[in-house]
Amino acid sequence: MATATVHPNIALVKYWGKRDRDLNLPSTGSLSMTLSHFATKTSVVFGVDHDEVIINGEEAMGRPAARVLKHLDLIQPGRAPAKVVSTNNFPTAAGLASSSSGFAALTLAALKALNIDHTPAQASILARQGSGSAARSIWGGFVEWRRGVKEDGTDSHGLHVAPPDHWDLNMVIAVVDKGQKSVGSTEGMLRTMATSPMYSAWVSSWQRDLDQARQGILDQDLTMVGRAMEASTLKMFATMFTSTPPIRYWRPASVAIQDEVAKLRQDGINCWWTMDAGPNVKVLCEPEDAPAVADALEHHVEDVHTLAVGGHPVVED
Ligand code: DP6
Repeated sequence: MATATVHPNIALVKYWGKRDRDLNLPSTGSLSMTLSHFATKTSVVFGVDHDEVIINGEEAMGRPAARVLKHLDLIQPGRAPAKVVSTNNFPTAAGLASSSSGFAALTLAALKALNIDHTPAQASILARQGSGSAARSIWGGFVEWRRGVKEDGTDSHGLHVAPPDHWDLNMVIAVVDKGQKSVGSTEGMLRTMATSPMYSAWVSSWQRDLDQARQGILDQDLTMVGRAMEASTLKMFATMFTSTPPIRYWRPASVAIQDEVAKLRQDGINCWWTMDAGPNVKVLCEPEDAPAVADALEHHVEDVHTLAVGGHPVVED
């Protein structure tokens, strides 16, 4: 039996679209910040009577359970029956990146329980096949996920850009809705790829955003990171809005918060927003500005969390 505790990550430069669906290879490179406080804790034990998956205290059935068990089959083909117990201390499947920490924790716990030697990059490649964003949660701090060019995906894994203590940044999260999203990320991406006329512009224009965000992180230049993050976010949503039928995760409160962030910037507070496959808004700022940002967000939603840069996964026997 082994247990892994892993933090989710939020993409500053976004992954949206797949160049290979079976291997889950992305059409774009992406870059993320690992979050503090929010975490998934997953225990795996092999050699029990029958497969069993418990998520947040309830037995998982259907697709969620099948996804977990298929991931164990990938890690060890012909494996023994396993029991998986996984708990999130934050809302699941609500655009708060639970699949990133979920599949990273499952991968690391299973590798440890099976005593399989691995590098972080190998763990990242496995985690990627469970859920793309999980490739980035194998590290704390700031992480890039290389698009890669190889057909077998061996060059498409996370890379550590900077450790957790490199830069004291905050992400203030406004929870507009903690319910599960109506269109899952995988389904949304496939629809976008098949129907959006903007998709080709998206896959030909991400590199600059990624280079700028990476440089901004290394230089601790929040304006540089923020500009690249908002540009990447808006382009990703442009592909979703122009899909058929359209995918629109935004709610009125999401837009009001985007306006609030623009207003805060006019007032001299350096803060920048991003969103993912859900209505929640995440605002990046320096810790000294976080109380003012959180205050402003609380005018729009009840639930606001101020998180710092998260640490590396912890794996125990
Ligand atoms: C908008 O990693 O959940 O959060 O690989 O299909 O499981 P699958 O998708 P997932 O998608 C994340 C999309 C995003 C942007 C990002 O995290 O980069």
